[in-house]
Amino acid sequence: MPFTDFLVVGSGIAGLSYALKVASACPDRSITIITKADESESNTKYAQGGIAVVQDQGDSFEEHVQDTIRAGDGLCDEEVVRSVIEEGPQQLRELIRLGVEFDRDTEGEFNLGREGGHGVHRIIHHKDITGLVIEQALLRKVAHAENIEVCSHHFAIDLITEHHLGDPGVNTPSGPSCYGAYVLNERTDRIETWHAGVTLLASGGAGQVYGHTTNPLIATGDGIAMAYRAKAVISHMEFVQFHPTALYQPSVSPTFLISEAVRGFGATLRTGQEEEFMYRYDQRGALASRDIVARAIDCELKRSGEECVYLDCRHLDIQKFRSGFPTIYQKCSSLGICIERDMIPVVPAAHYQCGGIHVDNMGRTSVNRLFACGECAHTGLHGANRLASNSLLEALVMADRCYKAGIQEIKSFGQTVDIPEWNDKGTTTAEELILISHNRRELQATMRDYVGIARSFERLKRARQRLELLYGETEALYRKKRLSPQLCELRNLIAVGYLIVEQSLQRKKNSGSFWNIDLAS
Ligand code: SIN
Repeated sequence: MPFTDFLVVGSGIAGLSYALKVASACPDRSITIITKADESESNTKYAQGGIAVVQDQGDSFEEHVQDTIRAGDGLCDEEVVRSVIEEGPQQLRELIRLGVEFDRDTEGEFNLGREGGHGVHRIIHHKDITGLVIEQALLRKVAHAENIEVCSHHFAIDLITEHHLGDPGVNTPSGPSCYGAYVLNERTDRIETWHAGVTLLASGGAGQVYGHTTNPLIATGDGIAMAYRAKAVISHMEFVQFHPTALYQPSVSPTFLISEAVRGFGATLRTGQEEEFMYRYDQRGALASRDIVARAIDCELKRSGEECVYLDCRHLDIQKFRSGFPTIYQKCSSLGICIERDMIPVVPAAHYQCGGIHVDNMGRTSVNRLFACGECAHTGLHGANRLASNSLLEALVMADRCYKAGIQEIKSFGQTVDIPEWNDKGTTTAEELILISHNRRELQATMRDYVGIARSFERLKRARQRLELLYGETEALYRKKRLSPQLCELRNLIAVGYLIVEQSLQRKKNSGSFWNIDLAS
């Protein structure tokens, strides 16, 4: 049975930066990163906007704090907001030391972008591929760290807790503990038992629970679902952020994101009749926070019956646009959208999970020896709606805290425990993937139609009924069939969908990205 001191699930900015810090502070400790696809595949890779960090003389921590709290619509934890924002500059310096380059002007100062909800320009970025350059730089460093092993195409199925040892620790005063994870090695098709000192979930978001999402196919909420099954506290799942401007391409999934930085650069939102409608909803116009813009678009589309609204860039300096947003420019050109002449068709799409595995200010979950950071975690920073580009900042700051707490706490952990190997006796290979793929589509349709931007109690209750059916069918497959990544993802997506629905039903007041039409006054 493999043993590792630090098991990291996920290879985005949170998992990689944590692993690098642990590796350098503890050269004698082993760190294993498991990731279910290629190691470079993560939500981080697709982050276009950048990192919100106070740098400029014309900005202040207080302004960033206030913008974050306003976007979070009363549900941010102010202490967390302050501390994360104040640690931003230090974490940015560390990232730059690791080799990440950000756009600068001719004087060498950061070329700061602006996004919705920010009162000033404060987004540090690398053109429109910030996440990609961060991911690549971190992976280069990881490849040179002798005590980090990366296991790609390894799918974490479940966390190992007392439950697997035949001792339901939930009833012990200190609660359950995590001893690693059962992991499906997709190359050998065997389930491995990874015994770990400390386990970190950095497994990203869950946008795939909605078919229409900016998130890559891997964003199936695996960490959140595993933590939920391990009895960790999961909170604020009802706050799903819909990005207002995903490129409108019916039946293409994931959708291509048109960064909010494009609106920060001066693009406006218009209806098909070219009305600039956002000022009817908010005095900040197209630069209101995401929840407000997404809801306004949803409302316009319902009123007009049209399929999309438009982002108008025709008045902008196109040379500057092309150099600042080369990927977006090329994508539009490849589809015959000439942004000098045509408006870009856009619609909202599921983008970010503001809730998740509840953690304390050092990233500890409610399960001993289990930490979480990045999108899968809920720290209290985002409240009811995340301020744009605060997520990479949070991932860096919280990965740093998890590492600091983890390397201290591992010293006090007891001896290894006897963990039974995974038992798949009696299971048979699934002949038909249609049973799984159909249920995934059905789940996504249910979430889209009943648990989207605008919800109601009736829609949520209907969604719950559908999910119960899907849950029953999927659990039956899970017990009888040999596990496949597709089956495990479906099981996780259903758990995430269930959490979003249940927590939506419990919320009694609209706030931020949560909107129940029955609660609207
Ligand atoms: C964007 O570039 O619009 C996305 C950035 C983010 O989600 O923070």
